[in-house]
Amino acid sequence: MKKILLLNGPNLNRLGKREPGIYGVSTLEDLEERMVQLGVDSQIEIICFQSNHEGELIDKLHEAEDTGVDGIIFNPGAFTHYSYAIRDAIAGIGCPVIEVHISNVYQREEFRHKSVIAPVAKGQIAGLGLLGYELALEAFKRGKGEE
Ligand code: DQA
Repeated sequence: MKKILLLNGPNLNRLGKREPGIYGVSTLEDLEERMVQLGVDSQIEIICFQSNHEGELIDKLHEAEDTGVDGIIFNPGAFTHYSYAIRDAIAGIGCPVIEVHISNVYQREEFRHKSVIAPVAKGQIAGLGLLGYELALEAFKRGKGEE
């Protein structure tokens, strides 16, 4: 059975309350429930984890490799724009990562236009709301990262 890690970074535990005009009204719990259900429908185990702490996200990336996770759907939040430590963690593991952003970061402030994660990610999805996570799962279902 394929195992996919759904990883969310800082402030994403506040989905539904946080700037709903940008991030929508669904909660992280809604997202995780939906993803787990989609996984059940396709016989994929979805492991959900969110943290506001850089080191915990890095530990989870290492653990993903050590426990044989097949792919990681990762919204690193603001760490996207400056965390070389997270970038290095991704570069150092074999698991493919698809970077997801709920908002279209390229239409927003200049500091959001740069991702230090993108060069070490398999791909990036931005601006499609929570649908972006589902599309990342679909990509893994179709074998992205196995080629
Ligand atoms: C985000 C975009 C980031 O710039 C921001 O810091 C977030 C969320 C998104 O999902 O659109 O926390 O990653």
